[in-house]
Amino acid sequence: MFHTAVCDLLGIRVPILQGAMQGGGGVDLVAAVSNAGGLGVLPTFGGPDRKLREDIAAVRERTSRPFGVNIMPMGRGITERCVATCIELGVPVVTTGRADPGADAVHKLKAAGIKVVSVIPTVEHARRMEAEGVDAVVASGTEAGGHVGTIATMPLVPMVVDAVKIPVLAAGGIGDARGFLAAFALGAQGIQMGTRFMATVESDLNAWGRQRLLEMRETDTLVTRSMTGATVRCIRTPEIAAYEEALTRHAPEAEVTELMRAVRASRNEEKAMRRQSAAGQVAGLIRDVPTVADLIDGILAEAARLAERMPGMARS
Ligand SMILES: Cc1cc2nc3c(=O)[nH]c(=O)nc-3n(C[C@H](O)[C@H](O)[C@H](O)COP(=O)(O)O)c2cc1C
Repeated sequence: MFHTAVCDLLGIRVPILQGAMQGGGGVDLVAAVSNAGGLGVLPTFGGPDRKLREDIAAVRERTSRPFGVNIMPMGRGITERCVATCIELGVPVVTTGRADPGADAVHKLKAAGIKVVSVIPTVEHARRMEAEGVDAVVASGTEAGGHVGTIATMPLVPMVVDAVKIPVLAAGGIGDARGFLAAFALGAQGIQMGTRFMATVESDLNAWGRQRLLEMRETDTLVTRSMTGATVRCIRTPEIAAYEEALTRHAPEAEVTELMRAVRASRNEEKAMRRQSAAGQVAGLIRDVPTVADLIDGILAEAARLAERMPGMARS
């Protein structure tokens, strides 16, 4: 019922991508999503080439379905190395996050027969990536976990749909069948979810992280530059809240710098309550920790049921 051009393009059964999540989802999550009919995507985030090769091999041991590798543009050398490894190992799909990896990277991947899907935060980015030759774009709103722009998913998706000819997927704030269906109503041909996939049996999250997601309200995330320098939506921690509060009251630079150091120092702290993680506003909607297969099957079944009750709802 929800088979779209995105399914044909990527060789998947259901138009659901698992957004790459540094620290949120490794090989088990990626393989589980692909085995459930969607597309699992490995994060790389500038990590060592050896790790990427090991991860790709581990995913292939767990699934024979298509999967993706995410390239975060973190420097030309890192991007080139990642592109070369994806080509050498015949990765089926590459997604790009946060910014343009460069036309050269896109051309090389495409020439090797790899499908390229770019996550974009504005209409302008969507047009640029289409001009570079990517196969599809994920219009990701400011509600999303991880690096974000300022435009919300609800206006962004239809604007991008109107602006480009390639398929558009929606991301940012989607966590159940209602969001899945809404994406179709906005003109998208599929969705990408991150935060919702963190609350699954197969994710990389520790017990505290899972519990935190279950307890979070819609107001428990914020956007901060204190983690990486770019705007990241993450779980509100005392350190990040203090940094943002200092910025709001125009505190002296030395104080702001000190608070940023505290945020970065707390990143790897083992003390559970202080652990940093990106997360999206949809965390407030999460009430259970299912297996990936149950999550995806449940969304599809519920979406079909809801669509029945919506006269005139376009079926794809
Ligand atoms: C913990 C976490 C880590 C993420 N890491 C990456 C990443 O490495 N690369 C990337 O392109 N996007 C990353 N994202 C964004 C997701 O791939 C996805 O686009 C986003 O989570 C979708 O919005 P949602 O959280 O509302 O579902 C991350 C998101 C989260 C929550």
